[in-house]
Amino acid sequence: MLVILKRDDEEISRQAAQLIASGIHKKPALTLGLATGSTMVGVYKQLVHLHKQGSLDFSRVITFNLDEYLGLAAAHPQSFHYFMEENLFAHINVNPRNVHIPDGTIRGNYDQYCASYEESIRKAGGIDIQLLGIGRNGHIGFNEPTSSIGSRTRLKVLSKETLDDNAKFFAPGEESPRCAITMGIGTILEARKIVLLAAGAAKSAAVAKSIEGPITSAVSASALQLHPEVTFIIDDAAAAQLTQRDYYHRVLEMTALLTPDRLG
Ligand code: F6R
Repeated sequence: MLVILKRDDEEISRQAAQLIASGIHKKPALTLGLATGSTMVGVYKQLVHLHKQGSLDFSRVITFNLDEYLGLAAAHPQSFHYFMEENLFAHINVNPRNVHIPDGTIRGNYDQYCASYEESIRKAGGIDIQLLGIGRNGHIGFNEPTSSIGSRTRLKVLSKETLDDNAKFFAPGEESPRCAITMGIGTILEARKIVLLAAGAAKSAAVAKSIEGPITSAVSASALQLHPEVTFIIDDAAAAQLTQRDYYHRVLEMTALLTPDRLG
């Protein structure tokens, strides 16, 4: 596990975009796992900037998003389809045929649909780099506390904390979704490389538990400790409750010296 401590949201976005860009430079047909949410906005801005500068080509990149709200069509402004289009896809040269986001409008045979999403990931050769945010309750994707560490893509009921966090994005009186389709923790752990970003004080407890606490289904992101190649990129406020910050800085210095490739 590599913990990269940065000053603010701007710096974590730059670092994450650099890691992704270097992944695409090494493997132009990279399979990229994507997340949505406020933490991702800056990263996608940076990626769009690199693309517009002419230094980043997405034409062969394949993408798989982590999750989508159940009941929201792609055109709904709060859907993750809409978010991805607005913040990234409309501004880069990704081939729409290579874009995969769980369909929030499916009805009925959810298990079959989720199995087919997993199958498309397998057919694409698995995910090379998975980008993650983290919820205040430690969720990754919509794997809410008590999600099984071996879980696969499935229908998931959202926790009270997540519902509260989301309510502000929906119009007054509009009911926000109660469920989502999400990749499982087991699905996420199969990615070759994982990059988790966290910014802001509200995330500091979840970040500390995920990195320095025990592996527990009570904090889904703690399962990332089982992964051989995970990088946490965290700003000062989100890192405030970590007790080993000096050590992470020293590891980073040595990484830059000995294996700079890991930093993008
Ligand atoms: C979204 C997702 C979620 C978010 C998390 C943090 O696709 O998978 O796990 O990454 O809720 O969201 P923000 O960045 O809005 O705090």
